[in-house]
Formats: sequence, C-alpha cells, structure tokens
Amino acid sequence: MAEQQLRIAVFASGQGSNFQALADAAAEGKLGGSIELLVCDKPSAPVVERARRAGIEAWVFNPKSYASREAYEHEILDELRRRGVGLVVLAGYMRILTPVLVEAFDGRMINIHPSLLPSFPGLNAIGQALEHGVKVTGVTIHFVDGGLDSGPIIAQRSIEIGEGESEASLSERIHSAENVLYPWAVRCIAEGRVTLDGRKVRIAGADFSG
Ligand code: GRF
Repeated sequence: MAEQQLRIAVFASGQGSNFQALADAAAEGKLGGSIELLVCDKPSAPVVERARRAGIEAWVFNPKSYASREAYEHEILDELRRRGVGLVVLAGYMRILTPVLVEAFDGRMINIHPSLLPSFPGLNAIGQALEHGVKVTGVTIHFVDGGLDSGPIIAQRSIEIGEGESEASLSERIHSAENVLYPWAVRCIAEGRVTLDGRKVRIAGADFSG
C-alpha cells in the first residue's frame, strides 16, 4: 500500500503566487504531500480563484462575522482536524494568529517572510529593507511560534539589492525566489527530513539547488 501522504492546508489572504507554486508542485507530484484546503480571510482575494482553478477546496471566512479571533480559529481548527491536516503552510496570510492554532500546530506550522530574518520582521519587510538601505535582503522560511516572525529558521536565500532598485522590482525578484524555495522546503518536511533541535533546524539529504 502507498505510504500516507502528508495533508497540507495553505493559509493566504492575497495574490497567492506562493499558493500557486505549491499547488503546481503538488499537481506534478513534487510536493511530497497533498493540499487539502486553502484557508482565506478575504472572499475577493485572487488566491480563491487560483484554488478553484486548481480544484482545491477553499474555506473562506469573514473575520468580522466572528466575535473574536479565537472564535474563527476554533472553526478553522475543526476543519483542519476533520481533514487530517498535518502541516499548515502560511503563504501571505495577513491575520495575527492566536495560541488556538499556533499551539495546536506547534512544530507543524510554517511561514514565509520576505526578508532575511531576524531583520525586518512584520509588515512591509521589502519596504523596510529598502528604507534601511541594506545591500542584501532575501527570503526566510521558518516555523511559527508565538512571536512575530520569530520561530526557528528552516531555509533562507539572499538577494542583492541593485543600485536605485524600485520596490516593485525587488518585490518581483523576492517572489520568484519564494516560489521556488517554498515548495522545496515543504517537500523536505513532507519527506520527514526536517528536524528541530531548540532553535536549530536540520535538513537531512540534498541541499537546495533551485
Ligand atoms: C510573500 O512575499 C510572503 O513572503 C509574504 O506575503 C507574500 C505573499 O505573496 N508573507 P503571494 O500572495 O504568495 O504572492
């Protein structure tokens, strides 16, 4: 019998280029797991249409219809458990998470952030990097803990900032790097090659070569 594949839920709020990259990798059998669900807090977000086209179910909610963050997170948690989700992949999910989800998925929830953490956590990391005048920025994939973009780092890629580079151009280059690195990192987790030792993350086997 075939080994049980890791069941994945992707959370996103916007364009969904990372969702698309993950869905494409899954469709090509290169993700090592299946995407069971998109969770989205914005009914009009382009990512919802991407999910429809990819044949992936979307659980779309309006946060304003709930009394609290915890209230909708309990509903999400029920959905994830019902589907046997083993990994939550945050891909541009713009809501603050509470311990309801973070603790339930401790060590099984990852995020992608458009800077070399711990530099420039929080919103508008690309703009923050440009404003600060750094010469190198990049992309970080990390486990989610209770803090702001503070969990153990799984993978990073650096990107040099060109002289006079615009935010639009840097953002495009960062997205391109993300769209390759994220499916690779998810696959490493799905294949059971990623281990966590305190803050240190080890990935057994081949290195990233995208
Ligand atoms: C990415 O830059 C990611 O690093 C950040 O949100 C953005 C999402 O982009 N967390 P997209 O919606 O996947 O295109």
